[in-house]
Amino acid sequence: MSLKKGKVYLVGAGPGDPELLTLKALRAIEQADVILYDKLVGDRIISFLKEMGKNIIYVGKDSRESGGKKQKEINRLMKKFALQGKKVVRLKGGDPFVFGRGSIEARFLKDEGIEFEVIPGVSSVSGVPTHACVPLTHPDFSTALLVVSGREEVKKWSEVLLEGTIVILMGRDKIGDISEELIKLGRDPETPVAVIENGTLESERTIFSNLSDVSDLLKKNNVNGPAIIVVGDIVTMGEELRETKKG
Ligand SMILES: C[S@@+](CC[C@H](N)C(=O)[O-])C[C@H]1O[C@@H](n2cnc3c(N)ncnc32)[C@H](O)[C@@H]1O
Repeated sequence: MSLKKGKVYLVGAGPGDPELLTLKALRAIEQADVILYDKLVGDRIISFLKEMGKNIIYVGKDSRESGGKKQKEINRLMKKFALQGKKVVRLKGGDPFVFGRGSIEARFLKDEGIEFEVIPGVSSVSGVPTHACVPLTHPDFSTALLVVSGREEVKKWSEVLLEGTIVILMGRDKIGDISEELIKLGRDPETPVAVIENGTLESERTIFSNLSDVSDLLKKNNVNGPAIIVVGDIVTMGEELRETKKG
């Protein structure tokens, strides 16, 4: 399906303080013809949008509504405005790809052939504790940070490591050992892995692989820059979504 004229920006608004909006988010907001915003976008950000004279539409879910029904309506609006050739900002609390249904909306846009861009936001995951001066890691206390949805039923806490998405920092040179350990623990050797080197910079490079091959592939591709490694089935979705990404 060919790309339509309009474009949708899935924008993270951060945890609430307008000063935690990124410059990129602000630029998208300034250029937007219409902004569809969620419940968790802070009141001060909404006042700011109103002061800017922006055309804003509330699409947050109230507690009586079904998520599926609301999502259909949001999808319908994004599509409608994009087909009118408009620049649409879909403004979401925190970061759009962290428990924010941003991935559902990105997939919808891709399937509809509508151009889109994802603009990361400061996630409440780290933004809120850091603002409250509660550190998340320290070499003496914790070298891991587990982020779990309390809404979905966690069947067995001990299995979180086997089912959830794992994000590894500083693991580039040890990925062979890490993969081996995860496979020993019970993760499928075919589990998809994405390695993102020099993220958000001009030189950003993403390599897709799986647990059994990733170590060799990194060596073969001379991955030497700072890298984030994402392990889990969701990585497949990233690979699919990127097919429409420009550049
Ligand atoms: C559906 S999730 C969305 C998370 C969001 N995409 C992010 O990256 O922060 C909503 C949950 O994020 C947390 N949250 C979001 N903003 C927050 C804030 N300003 N203070 C505390 N918790 C917050 C709460 O646990 C809330 O129930």
